[in-house]
Amino acid sequence: MKKNILIIGGSHGIGREVVRMMHKDYQIFTACRTEGELNSLPVQYQEYDVLNDSPDALQLPEEIHGFVYCPGSINLRPFKMLSEKDFREDMEVNFFALTCILPKVLAKMQEGSSMVFYSTVAVQTGMPFHTSVAAAKGAIEGFARALAAEYTPKIRVNVIAPSLTDTPLAERLLNNDGKKQKMSERHPLKSVGTAEDMAKMTTFLLTDDSRWITGQVFKVDGGISALNIN
Ligand SMILES: NC(=O)c1ccc[n+]([C@@H]2O[C@H](COP(=O)([O-])OP(=O)(O)OC[C@H]3O[C@@H](n4cnc5c(N)ncnc54)[C@H](OP(=O)(O)O)[C@@H]3O)[C@@H](O)[C@H]2O)c1
Repeated sequence: MKKNILIIGGSHGIGREVVRMMHKDYQIFTACRTEGELNSLPVQYQEYDVLNDSPDALQLPEEIHGFVYCPGSINLRPFKMLSEKDFREDMEVNFFALTCILPKVLAKMQEGSSMVFYSTVAVQTGMPFHTSVAAAKGAIEGFARALAAEYTPKIRVNVIAPSLTDTPLAERLLNNDGKKQKMSERHPLKSVGTAEDMAKMTTFLLTDDSRWITGQVFKVDGGISALNIN
């Protein structure tokens, strides 16, 4: 029997690419606000908004072997232009909403299962205008490591910290050739990330190929956090 993967998200962006890569070998369950491009694939879709729907409304399979949480934000502004509301909203979608649904999900997670969350390269590398998202994703990194310690050896928990990746979330930053070129140049590997780059790391972390890896944060970032080539 196929193993079950639950993806909060999956309609587009990185989650959609994870669905595309895994749907043949795994039974995929997705929950998000829109079906997006999912209707062409054999996946179970549930309309669900992590900000407004109760965790009790989330329909889960009896057994979960892999879990991915995709909702996030890119809210880049100088600190003085950010209100308390902005910080709270970023914390809500990136972190608190995850903690609300996780108890239900954990109850179904099986021995040897795996969870993947997303952070940002801007948590461990200081970048201007990132205070709000870096704070919210910083919460994810600390949370994931502690959760990994609490649930080992039953469940592995890992985090991917991407740099700028060409998905609908980053549309405003990449919506013309000039912006794309400039952003590509900033990365030592001279391109921005693709949903596929992130999905490949995600699928690796979800499967037994990564059976001896837990509690880690993986920077998938075109080298921007490690190499100073200027
Ligand atoms: N793209 C980047 O440059 C970048 C950089 C660093 C970190 N990240 C992180 O990587 C993760 C995935 O990003 P992405 O670029 O793939 O984002 P995306 O293109 O916006 O996709 C996000 C997915 O989450 C779902 N989602 C969003 N809000 C939701 C809500 N309130 N309730 C339920 N589902 C919701 C979306 O579906 P619906 O809209 O249909 O609900 C979509 O399927 C995020 O956590 C993001 O912060 C991305």
